[in-house]
Amino acid sequence: MASEAVGAPPAVNKEVDERKPAKQKIDPWNVAGEVDDSGNVKAIDYDRLIEDFGVQPLTQAHLERFEKVTGKPAHRLMRRKLFFSHRDFDKILDYYEQHGQFLLYTGRGPSSGSMHLGHTVPFLFTKEIQELFDVPLVIMMTDDEKFLYTRNKNEGSMKKGAAPDDFLDYAYENIKDIIALGFDPKKTFIYSDYEFMGGHFYRNVSEFESMVTYNQASGAFGFGESTNIGLISFMAKQCVAAFPSSYPELFGLPDYRAPDFDQAGKRRHKALASIPCLIPCAIDQEPYFRVLRDRSERMVDPHPKPALIMSKFLTALQGPGGKMSASDPNSAIFMSDTPNQIKSKINKHAFSGGQQTEEEHRRLGGNPDVDVAFTYLSYFLEDDKELEDLAKQYRAGEILTGEMKAKCVGELQNFVAAFKERRDSVTPEVMREFMRPRKLEFVGNPNPIKPKAAEGASGSNGSAVPSGAAGEGAGGKDGRGTKGERKAAKLAEKKAEKEAEKLALRQKAEEAKPEV
Ligand code: TYM
Repeated sequence: MASEAVGAPPAVNKEVDERKPAKQKIDPWNVAGEVDDSGNVKAIDYDRLIEDFGVQPLTQAHLERFEKVTGKPAHRLMRRKLFFSHRDFDKILDYYEQHGQFLLYTGRGPSSGSMHLGHTVPFLFTKEIQELFDVPLVIMMTDDEKFLYTRNKNEGSMKKGAAPDDFLDYAYENIKDIIALGFDPKKTFIYSDYEFMGGHFYRNVSEFESMVTYNQASGAFGFGESTNIGLISFMAKQCVAAFPSSYPELFGLPDYRAPDFDQAGKRRHKALASIPCLIPCAIDQEPYFRVLRDRSERMVDPHPKPALIMSKFLTALQGPGGKMSASDPNSAIFMSDTPNQIKSKINKHAFSGGQQTEEEHRRLGGNPDVDVAFTYLSYFLEDDKELEDLAKQYRAGEILTGEMKAKCVGELQNFVAAFKERRDSVTPEVMREFMRPRKLEFVGNPNPIKPKAAEGASGSNGSAVPSGAAGEGAGGKDGRGTKGERKAAKLAEKKAEKEAEKLALRQKAEEAKPEV
């Protein structure tokens, strides 16, 4: 089971390799179930994780509330409790009902040229949330994190194909994967850390770094004295990426980066600080956001604690003690796998909950709870009734392992084929549009309970700042932002108008040219 701990620091790999008894270990770089006294790797214990991390379980009441607010049935991943825990999810729903908007934030650490099936889980869910709530979304590609982590794992040596530039290449390939999952370009901004860091974002990073000591960081992530300092400080970047004030342009407000020395965006915008954020991810990312929540209200412009909604891990093919890992091809189905590769991986490697012989299976039945093919179906098969029937028939011995696997292969082949078709149509122009900092178009809740506060959302000041947020936070009691922010927005608006005029003139001139 060593493969499930791929990417783990040497100490963890060793424990798993030698199958020494060890507690379950979940953090952004290790996902491994408990190893018991006999050396067996156990399934990840999510109830214990809820306790250990101090997060809240997602309950039936949340589901009902979610359905009431959105007027739609909850996503299958939520219905089936695969998204199983949260922090302040209720507050986000409250805020949306009252003021109508929030920022949605998720990300990917591009560790290889193709995402695997597990990585699509939070993205599919995020897409649904974006559609249901009509809110802006930012997707962070932590090429820097993956470079720093890999070099750390390689004990400081620089391996071929593992330089910063290589991770930027991976980021681009993964961005294509993400776009192919179907996000709306009008509401979505995707960026690579290597390319985007600067402006107000980096000022937030710097301020955040100043609030976290080495002891606190190593308490959350287990850093040691030989961890490179880049990896230690990286966390500030993943944290402040949850602050809307890191992306003023997405809300129609100016940023401040060379060579554009327009004074308008010199200061960070207070009004943005009070817009809340919701982060969908698997629970391995929780340590980042624990630190984030602990510090966000202590920023000069206090930000509300970001809310989280967290999923379980799509298990490795080998079973429920670990997650799919990009660095172990046999543990995962990749989005670049061919139909035959999918078939052969499931047939050869997917752990079965069935019995040893057909006769025993018919007599005793199988266990869908540990059966990997069934588990994958529970993530990707839409029809609840069909899934329930499969589980029942498997338990009753009416369906054999081979049949469950064939069903799973068919579903995954369809999912990956549709994905590939969409990915092929992701041109450089499409990518560029997603990666261009620009004012995003979103409406949010069209009927917020506090409509007065939400009026400014469509922008008396030309910005997309929900003034419900601004009114409640530090950015001006009348909900129109501070004087400076209004001035900044006006300047930005004028600039945009001028650019639009120029563009229109250029287009006219082009059209006037005689055709050759
Ligand atoms: P990364 O690239 O490890 O994972 C990307 C997203 O996929 C989730 N995930 C999984 N979900 C279900 N089953 C699995 N087997 C599985 N493996 C990974 C991760 O939890 C994550 O949501 N540091 C981050 C990138 C990041 C980020 C964020 C992620 C930056 N900001 C905000 C979530 C939210 C990373 O390396 O993710």
